[in-house]
Amino acid sequence: MTGPRYTPLAQSLPATVPFVGPETQERQRGAAFIARLGANESVFGPSPRAIRAMEQAASDIWMYADPENHDLRHALAEYHGVTPENIVVGEGIDGLLGYLVRLIVGPGDSVVTSDGAYPTFNYHVAGFGGVLHKVPYAGDHEDPAALFAKAAEVGAKLVYLANPDNPIGSWHSGADIVAAMDALPDGCLLILDEAYVECAPEGTAAPVSADDPRVIRMRTFSKVYGMAGARVGYAMGAPDLIAAFNKVRNHFGMNRAAQAGALAALQDGAWLEHIQTQIAEARERIGTIARENGLEPLPSATNFVAIDCGRDGDFAKAVLEALVARGLFVRMPFAAPQNRCIRVSCGDTADLDAFAVALPKALAEVRSNTA
Ligand SMILES: Cc1ncc(COP(=O)(O)O)c(C=O)c1O
Repeated sequence: MTGPRYTPLAQSLPATVPFVGPETQERQRGAAFIARLGANESVFGPSPRAIRAMEQAASDIWMYADPENHDLRHALAEYHGVTPENIVVGEGIDGLLGYLVRLIVGPGDSVVTSDGAYPTFNYHVAGFGGVLHKVPYAGDHEDPAALFAKAAEVGAKLVYLANPDNPIGSWHSGADIVAAMDALPDGCLLILDEAYVECAPEGTAAPVSADDPRVIRMRTFSKVYGMAGARVGYAMGAPDLIAAFNKVRNHFGMNRAAQAGALAALQDGAWLEHIQTQIAEARERIGTIARENGLEPLPSATNFVAIDCGRDGDFAKAVLEALVARGLFVRMPFAAPQNRCIRVSCGDTADLDAFAVALPKALAEVRSNTA
């Protein structure tokens, strides 16, 4: 009896996952976290209108969801002033990144990203046998000019850029991104991941036509809209590219309650503004707590703040572990020199009170161990 005959590619892949979830950590610790500030979710929750729509959809859950996501796609098209043919809806940006990589990347194909950028993209590239080229950040910003120059050098089919960025929270103006796109090599598609753009200053969204064949933009209901567990994202791009997703996507992958919730969330502009204010206030408070403890918060256009712990990655990791030991779920960047930081998601007052109590204790413990 032999086991399943995995492809050589599957055999070559590591058994690791891009992120260990907080639930896994809670099981390992034998205790729940007191503040969940590690995954850039929105503790402020979805619009009450979205909750009502999802509750109403619950009794219809025996039906598969509309595989065309018709109503949500049309509403998104109207919202953005584009056509429904410019929009594909999928299981979060993570799901859409997987489909896109499957469409474009085969074994040995070159792809470019920043060293330390959002790792789920890298995971998909590895899964389809692509070769990932990584470009360093410029200071604490992803570097569009360097990314596009590297793409030209290695003949990349895809280049990934998150604006605003995760894990640092830095951003470029949309106009700067568009200007940099002049250097995108022919035949290379830019994935512009705008997961956090609703938290960013006016002018951060790239002013590109949805029909521009050089770029696909990705958005999500997981962040400002507070629906990470519903798994709804969408991509905007040229109609041919958007239509190609139909060849590979999981047509019945969407949850019908999530479709209804996203539609209602999109229509609740007042809630969006309310959350944008909550996020801005929480960012301020995280910054204040960091400074009170002698640490430097980095400017953020997202729903989290990266805090420079002032030393190396080992020190930041020890601070992170000391916070986790005190019941705070936080994460940190993977790559140097950004791994001198810990990354704290915006929380409500109780969450940030808990952070304000735990941080000085965590720092005192780590400083006494490393003195
Ligand atoms: C830059 C970036 N892109 C995508 C995602 C995932 O989005 P989704 O929940 O829509 O899959 C995240 C989540 O943290 C992110 O930081």
